[in-house]
Amino acid sequence: MQRLRRMRANGMLRALAAETRADVSKLIYPVFVRGGENVKEEVPSMPGVYRYSADRLGEVADAVAEAGVAGVMLFGIPEQKDESGSGAYDENGVVPRAIRFFKDHFRKTGKSFLVAADICLCEYTSHGHCGMLVGGEVDNDGSLPLHAKAALAAAEAGADMVAPSSMMDGVVGAVRRALDGAGFSSLPIMAYSAKFASAFYGPFRDAADSAPKSGDRKSYQMDVRNAREAVREIEADEVEGADIVMVKPALAFLDVVKTARERTLLPLAVYNVSGEYSMVKAAAKEGWLDEKRTVTEIMAAFFRAGADIVITYHALDFARWQKEAEVQG
Ligand code: PBG
Repeated sequence: MQRLRRMRANGMLRALAAETRADVSKLIYPVFVRGGENVKEEVPSMPGVYRYSADRLGEVADAVAEAGVAGVMLFGIPEQKDESGSGAYDENGVVPRAIRFFKDHFRKTGKSFLVAADICLCEYTSHGHCGMLVGGEVDNDGSLPLHAKAALAAAEAGADMVAPSSMMDGVVGAVRRALDGAGFSSLPIMAYSAKFASAFYGPFRDAADSAPKSGDRKSYQMDVRNAREAVREIEADEVEGADIVMVKPALAFLDVVKTARERTLLPLAVYNVSGEYSMVKAAAKEGWLDEKRTVTEIMAAFFRAGADIVITYHALDFARWQKEAEVQG
């Protein structure tokens, strides 16, 4: 008789039957860097997530190296914001400074990991939009050279990867051409290809103080009702030269992840965004959910759906739990 329970009887059999594995070395940990000195402040809506000034990044570097995750993705919170988001492409801006700090720290400690830079204007513009505004509208093409400059500033500081996230049409191509023209033809691009206009970004906008001051992002981020269009976005980024494509957010879009997996041959990343993180943290704090089991289940879901890479604020905790589980056997 068929007995599907046979292979569930104990941990040894379950391990053999497991179809997927949540691999810590495939996780990327997002890090918020800000100006100033000696700052480590918790993001109120994201317990356990901090904003660091560059000089305090040593503890992050050590924790990330110890966890064995793939690396970090840097988000900058500048001291000043302006109309054109100039902090995003300042060679001495918060992100280039943080990249240099990490690289210097690696030389000293001999331990290193991937340092990726998110490339967008929204954390740097006074109006909070991801591109420049002209007559109250986001000027797509006029914003492309600014993204290209931001990518160059990150590349020159030593970033291992750049990740344009603004959903401007043509941004991947613009960044690729700028990098190639400046001697960075080997630097990979992770494209935020299918990024939806999502409510789940709320806590991030808190963290980066980047909520749009007027309107919303629906004219450039994707409509949450669409999946076929996500495939078109991915295909467009492939043609423009993306090396990794991404679906974001993750949890409410696993169908899109699965479809993307079937349609693209590129490595596929998912971004387990701030709101997804904060929901788990809040429920765990109330005692309504077991944080470790919940996060473990969520990570399994991402890999099962077909993700190769997971960007998650849970990365360090999850790595620690995985290590504890190995020790316990
Ligand atoms: C935009 C950007 C966003 C996030 C990262 N980069 C979203 C947005 O405000 O539109 C969200 C990440 C998260 O919620 O964790 N450049």
